[in-house]
Amino acid sequence: MTNPFAKIDVAGRPLANRIVMAPMTRSRAYGPGATPTDLMATYYSQRTSAGLIVTEGIQPSAVGQGYPDTPGLHSPEQVAAWRKVTDAVHRDGGVIFAQLMHTGRIGHPSLLPDGLSPVAPSPVAAKGQVFTHQGPLDFVTPRELDAAAIIRTIGDFADAARNAIAAGFDGVEVHGANGYLIHQFLAPNSNRRTDGWGGDAAGRVRFGVEVAAAVAAAIGAHRTGFRISPGNPFNDIAETDAADVENTYTTLVTRLAELNLGYLHMVEGADRTLTTRLRAAWPGPFILNPFTYPEPTGPETLALIEDGTTDMVAFGALFLANPDLPARLAAQGPYNTPDRATFYGGDHRGYTDYPYLSDAPA
Ligand SMILES: Cc1cc2nc3c(=O)[nH]c(=O)nc-3n(C[C@H](O)[C@H](O)[C@H](O)COP(=O)(O)O)c2cc1C
Repeated sequence: MTNPFAKIDVAGRPLANRIVMAPMTRSRAYGPGATPTDLMATYYSQRTSAGLIVTEGIQPSAVGQGYPDTPGLHSPEQVAAWRKVTDAVHRDGGVIFAQLMHTGRIGHPSLLPDGLSPVAPSPVAAKGQVFTHQGPLDFVTPRELDAAAIIRTIGDFADAARNAIAAGFDGVEVHGANGYLIHQFLAPNSNRRTDGWGGDAAGRVRFGVEVAAAVAAAIGAHRTGFRISPGNPFNDIAETDAADVENTYTTLVTRLAELNLGYLHMVEGADRTLTTRLRAAWPGPFILNPFTYPEPTGPETLALIEDGTTDMVAFGALFLANPDLPARLAAQGPYNTPDRATFYGGDHRGYTDYPYLSDAPA
């Protein structure tokens, strides 16, 4: 039986425990040019008792931004500002990976500078609306990336990964989940291409694999993680054919395994069997953000480390609301309750003011 509080080697270093802070967009990068703020440094430095912190989604390029006030890693000012975050985390002994999130068709021209508009594998609009400074607006039909633009986009991920290391991050997580650009390439309803970047499973996984390979070449494979969410319908993804999902993700994981990446991070759907199969195809460290719908990942999921289902568990909402989550898990609670109203945007409230266990009256 594995102890969730035992050390584990990831990315060539020992992590203090197997409890991961899941990536969470908080939309508080109010600085000019989508730069991180001092408040963000405080937020992350409060959560350094995680074995590993994965940051909120960070756009690797201006066009990759899909939500208001999300931070980037594509300008010198952003690199300098992230340095304050990574220094604060390292001062307290934390380990922090930057999640590179290109949102693809999820976004809106009004969120983008210089007349840019969202891009995707195919000109297929997502059904639904995106939150903008003007309120919720319908998704637009994205511009189809041509082959040259695909290569440039892969280069943007590699450049952003280099920037992440220059900013002091310990590594990078490539966001291949939740209906954003890489997932749009994986899913048959958003990828209608016939040119070798789409079609069968081998064609649809190619973009994600080439992004991972380019990032690994830029900063080292051990410093590169990858997040997947097989079958997740979020952002109008339709991966509805179970056999195709298994084939696509087995192909993807097998190809990623050849790259010797630092870890694989899986957002689980209702199918635990698929988790077990994909984990069996993955030789390295495995992080599971388990399926607990409709509740957020809770303390009981540490059993998945103990019974060997996964090496590490990623907690989202519970870590958002409990800066000292590992200590609370060790003490078997109590836990602060996440306040949804302050998840995205706003100030320090619901961000850096959740109390620690030690703040509780004796
Ligand atoms: C406020 C919020 C923002 C999120 N932003 C991201 C993100 O930027 N990137 C990502 O991969 N997942 C994101 N997620 C999904 C979480 O990483 C996680 O998969 C999800 O919350 C389920 O885990 P939980 O039940 O432990 O919260 C976000 C979740 C929340 C609650």
